[in-house]
Amino acid sequence: MKTTKAGALAVVAMLLLTLSGCANLGGIDLTQVGKEGTTTYLKIALNQTESHPSYIALDHFGQRLAEKTNGRWKVDVYPNEQLGSQQEVVQFIKSGAIEMAIVSGTQLENLSKDFQVLNLPKAFKDVRHQMQVIRDPSIVGELFTSLEKRDNITVIGGFTQGSRSIYTRFGPVNKPADLKGKKIRVQESDMHIRMIELMGGSATPLSYGEVYTALQSGVLDGAENNEVSYLTQKHVEVAPYWSYTNHLVGLDYMIMRADLLKAMSDADRKIFLEEWDKAMVEHTKLWSQKTSEAIEGAKKAGAKMTKVEGDAFDKALAPLVDEFLTTKKQRELWDKIQAAQTGASSSGATNSEADNSAESEAKNEIQDSRKGK
Ligand code: GCU
Repeated sequence: MKTTKAGALAVVAMLLLTLSGCANLGGIDLTQVGKEGTTTYLKIALNQTESHPSYIALDHFGQRLAEKTNGRWKVDVYPNEQLGSQQEVVQFIKSGAIEMAIVSGTQLENLSKDFQVLNLPKAFKDVRHQMQVIRDPSIVGELFTSLEKRDNITVIGGFTQGSRSIYTRFGPVNKPADLKGKKIRVQESDMHIRMIELMGGSATPLSYGEVYTALQSGVLDGAENNEVSYLTQKHVEVAPYWSYTNHLVGLDYMIMRADLLKAMSDADRKIFLEEWDKAMVEHTKLWSQKTSEAIEGAKKAGAKMTKVEGDAFDKALAPLVDEFLTTKKQRELWDKIQAAQTGASSSGATNSEADNSAESEAKNEIQDSRKGK
């Protein structure tokens, strides 16, 4: 469902009331959800535009959910950070003011260091490997439910961010030395700050919505992201030099109120998780297509997209794994993720143009353990 600006402002006003200690106006009544003759609206926060694959897949998810439940469950997607930055919406879910949000893996690192494992460069060989892992409860089941008790947040899966590369205002980057003294935006994560340092740059953490202006004004010399964000956020206009460092296959999570998932009837939860699973598959298919379109679009908008020198960045990043895998639990999770690579495609997130192997990973049939619980 498309949301108007006025509608979003009304929600934000409700959220502010909620957070300032008034009655739980923004949240939903868990005793009523799913009842015949009622409609429960699930507010989903997103920081992308309406043309981004995540918005499209969420919109379709909402349509299917409403159809399958005769309108008892509906979805309102709020794009463009209308409900706040990712850091803010995590707090809104914790307080029960909103129900669901797509947030980058880096945000969950700040709640539990175990999530760092999946945010490490080279955690995933490619998108197919990544989707295989996050849909396999024997690998991520414990991690995804680990925030439920303390934070009332559960993770039900996610969307790929594809392969991320560096782009700058000043010119192509071939090797780590080219980033010396350059201010490169990173997400709010200690590990990603270190990642940019190892890649040769000076890391500047900033929220997504602030990157365009910071690039435009010269506060930043560059940033790193995927081609879809590069185009949809219009960063190409202000930082036209794209260099294929392909340093990371990033991951967005779908997080939601844990008490809400529990409050659903078994039948509704089954429908909900099945439709969400289809959303992940649709998103993965769309990702491939939208990435190709974004590359074309960026080039038309003036981007100069170049390869980097050999494996210089891979080598520079090699120490990061040992620096950040500090506990036995993290190491075990890392090992399980790496062992799952056998089924992944061989294209890999190497220093070539985008990894477009998404078509086949969409057919991945691994079931979520919570399906039909
Ligand atoms: C990607 C990702 C977002 C994230 C953004 C960022 O676009 O999908 O969830 O917020 O990168 O770099 O902040």
